[in-house]
Amino acid sequence: MQQLLNILSEEVGRAFAAAGYDASLGKVSVSGRPDLAEYQCNGAMAGAKQYHKAPFMIAGDVAAQLKDSAVFERAEVVKPGFLNLDLRKSFLCDYLRQMKEAEKFGMEKPDKAKTVILDYGGPNVAKPLHVGHLRSAVIGEALKRIVRYHGDKAIGDIHLGDWGLQMGLVITELQHRHPELPYFDPEHTGDYPKEPPFTVSDLEEIYPFASAKSKENEDYHKEALENTHRLQQGDPGLRALWHHIINVSVTDMKRNYQNLNVTFDLWNGESSVNDIIPGMVEDMKKSGQAYESQGALVVDVAEESDAKEVPPCMILKSDGAALYTTTDLATIKMRQEEYDPDEIIYVVDKRQELHFVQTFRAARKCHLVDADCKLVFNGFGTVNGKDGKPFKTREGGVMRLETLIKDIDEQMLEKIKTNPDIPEEEAEETAKKVALAAIKYGDLSNQASKDYIFDTEKFTSFEGDTGPYILYTIVRIKSILKRYQEAGGKNPEDLTVQEPRSVAEKNLMRQLCGFNAMMEDAYENLAPHRICAYIYALSNDFNSFYHGTRILTEQDESVKEGWIALLYLTESVLNTCIDVLGFSAPERM
Ligand code: ARG
Repeated sequence: MQQLLNILSEEVGRAFAAAGYDASLGKVSVSGRPDLAEYQCNGAMAGAKQYHKAPFMIAGDVAAQLKDSAVFERAEVVKPGFLNLDLRKSFLCDYLRQMKEAEKFGMEKPDKAKTVILDYGGPNVAKPLHVGHLRSAVIGEALKRIVRYHGDKAIGDIHLGDWGLQMGLVITELQHRHPELPYFDPEHTGDYPKEPPFTVSDLEEIYPFASAKSKENEDYHKEALENTHRLQQGDPGLRALWHHIINVSVTDMKRNYQNLNVTFDLWNGESSVNDIIPGMVEDMKKSGQAYESQGALVVDVAEESDAKEVPPCMILKSDGAALYTTTDLATIKMRQEEYDPDEIIYVVDKRQELHFVQTFRAARKCHLVDADCKLVFNGFGTVNGKDGKPFKTREGGVMRLETLIKDIDEQMLEKIKTNPDIPEEEAEETAKKVALAAIKYGDLSNQASKDYIFDTEKFTSFEGDTGPYILYTIVRIKSILKRYQEAGGKNPEDLTVQEPRSVAEKNLMRQLCGFNAMMEDAYENLAPHRICAYIYALSNDFNSFYHGTRILTEQDESVKEGWIALLYLTESVLNTCIDVLGFSAPERM
C-alpha cells in the first residue's frame, strides 16, 4: 500500500500543478501544530522565489484547487503562506479498511528479498553473561526481526568467543587443580570421558580466578598462552576438554538467551573458522596484501581521507598465533562462501568500531567478500547506572545478566500480585513477560549508539514511555474485546472500521495509518527505537480515545461495531510491533 504521506503529497502536488506550479512543491508532512491542523504543506514558501509571487497567493491558488478534494476536508492558507490540511473522514476510513485487509498492514514487500546475516550476542565461552551482553542480544534480536518482517532472509549468528586466551586460562587452571585428568596425559590412548569434569558453577569460579592469577604470575600466563596454542594446533586431550567447556557453557547460555526471548540460527564461534585460516592467510600473502612487519603479518588499511590514523590490521602475531581480527576475517570469508549475503550487520559495543573499520577494509582489500555485499557496524553504547557510570551491582561488582533479570522479575511479581484477580501461577508467568518488556523496551527505546541509564524504577513503571505501559494498553484492549464478545458481540475480525466521530478517534486512526511508513523507516535505518516511539504515540492516542468514549455501553450497534474494529486493528498493530521488538503481552496484568 502506498504510504499515507505520499498519497497526501501527490494530491497536493496535483493541486500545485493544476494551479500552474511545480507539482514537487506539494510535499506534505504531519503538522507541527496539531492544535491547528493535522497536516501541513510548506511548498508555497519554497515556490515564492521561483515564481516571484507572494507565498500567500500561491498557497491560495493551491487551496482553491483542493476545494473538492476527496482526500482533504479542509485546506486553509495561513500567513505567510502555509497550507493547513485536515483529512476527509471518508478517505481516512477507506485507507484503514484497506490496511486491515492488506498483508502486513500494507507494508510493501521487497522486489527481491535480500540475505542478511546478523552477528550479535557474541558471548565468550566460560564467562558468565553480564549486563554488557544485554544490548547486543536485545538489539540484534530486534534487528533480525525487523529485517524478517520486511521480507528479507535474516540469519542470526551468535559468533561465540570460544577460541581465545580465556580457553587457555580455564584449561590451565583445570590442569593445576586436577593434573591427574586424562586430558593432560600425552600418553593417553582411546576415548576421553563423556562427562565433563566440572559444572557450570565451577567454570564461573575458575575463569575469573585464572584470569586474576595470570595477571600476577608471569609463568602461569605463559602456560595459558601455551595451552591456547596447543589447543589451536589440535592437541586431542585439550580439544576434548575444550568440547566439555563449550557444551557446559553453551547449555547455560541457551537458558539465558531463552529467558530473553533471543534465538540464533547459527551457533558458530571463532573456532568454526580455525581450519580455513591457514589457506586464507596464504592467499593474503600471495596477493601481496599481507606482509611481514617486525615479525608479525599485517595488512595496511589506512586511507587518505582518514581523519584519525587507522593502524595496519594484524593478521598473525610474531609467534604465528591468529588474532580476533583473523577469526573475523575468516568468518567473513566463510559467510561469503556459504551464504552469499547481501549484507552482514554486526551488533557490537561501539568501542570496537576501530576493529571493525580495520576488518572491513582488510576484507575488501583481500577480496574475502563480494564488492556488493554491505558490511555494517551497528555499534551500541554502554548501559550505565543512575550515577552515569557503567551499571554495577550494589556491591560494585559486575552485574550478571541473570541476576539483573531475576531482580526485575521479582519486582514485577510484587506489582502483579497486587491484582487479586490473578492466580499465583499466572502471576509468575505474567511478571516474567512484563519484566522482559520493561528491560527490552528500556533498552530499545534509546537510539542504539547512545549510552543509556538503566533505571529500574522507570523501566518497570506502568505509566510513561515504558514497556509495561505498552503492555497495559494491549491488555486493556484485549479485555474490552473479550467483554464485548462475552456479551454476545461478533468476531472483531469480521467488523469494519467506521468514519471517526471525535477528534481523539480521528487521531488514533491517523496514527494507525502511519504503520507502514514507520516500519519501512525502522528497517532502512536499523532503528528499533522508531518502533518504540510509534507504539508509545499509538498507545497514548488509544488511551485518549478510550478515556473519552463509552465503548461497550454504546446504544448504536453499528457505531459500537466500528469501534470494536478499530480496537482490534490497534491491538493487532501493537502486537505486531512488540513481536518485532522481541517481547509479548500477557492476557491480563
Ligand atoms: N566476543 C566478542 C567480545 O566479547 C564480541 C564478538 C562480536 N562479534 C564479532 N564478529 N567480532 O568482545
